[in-house]
Amino acid sequence: MAFIELKEVFYRYPESEEWVLKGVNLSVGSERVVITGRTGSGKTTLLRVMSGVALKVYGGELRGEVLIDGRVAYVPQEFDLYILMPTPREELTYILSAQNLGLNDVEVRIREISELLGIKELLDRRVVKLSMGERQRVAIASAIALNPEILMLDEPFAHIDPKGAVDLVRLLSNLGVSTLVISEHKLRYLANIIDRVVVLRDGTVVYSGSLEGAPKDPDIEWPLSMLRW
Ligand SMILES: Nc1ncnc2c1ncn2[C@@H]1O[C@H](COP(=O)(O)OP(=O)(O)OP(=O)(O)O)[C@@H](O)[C@H]1O
Ligand SMILES: [Mg+2]
Repeated sequence: MAFIELKEVFYRYPESEEWVLKGVNLSVGSERVVITGRTGSGKTTLLRVMSGVALKVYGGELRGEVLIDGRVAYVPQEFDLYILMPTPREELTYILSAQNLGLNDVEVRIREISELLGIKELLDRRVVKLSMGERQRVAIASAIALNPEILMLDEPFAHIDPKGAVDLVRLLSNLGVSTLVISEHKLRYLANIIDRVVVLRDGTVVYSGSLEGAPKDPDIEWPLSMLRW
């Protein structure tokens, strides 16, 4: 089983004056976890540390222990900046070819992934002509092409409308990836598919448990049903 474990993790960027993450202890196994908290609380930074990109991409300083056991794919908030090829088909071909698959297998995988993500009709369109919701599907398809056991998404609802959000939730729950870690403050969309909520405050985990038991932070968009008491 894939898992991630953080023990007493402190992290700072090269420019940080103080630690951004402060003594984070967190284990994630086969489950769907949402990391929430107000802006600046460290959600994105925590995903960067959990996916292993923090030190590699940003540098800085890390203390404590980070154990990552399993293949991780990470869809950043600015996902469209990371789509490099002109069309989704070329993007997926590029990612799959890097895994030493033969041409035939690449085609089979592209068919499977595009069916799963509902992007068959988009494969040969130019990425610059696609909507943000469509580009997001391409970005998630690219992550799935890495065959991850752990999939992380940073604020996946930031660029899409409520209808797109409902579609995205359905898609996420059908991906077949055993571990999902999502940073998000719009909990109302995720309420029905998540197993656990982790609340960050000022770089520290202040809650980890059920959605119902979580502290009602005013900056978090709670499911409507939970606000009617
Ligand atoms: N690349 C970076 N270099 C230096 N400091 C950074 C960098 N990225 C984030 N920070 C700082 O780290 C702290 C936590 O930011 P982070 O983006 O992780 O919070 P967040 O909870 O994801 O916020 P938001 O809800 O706005 O996305 C903030 O003080 C931010 O300014
Ligand atoms: Mg963020």
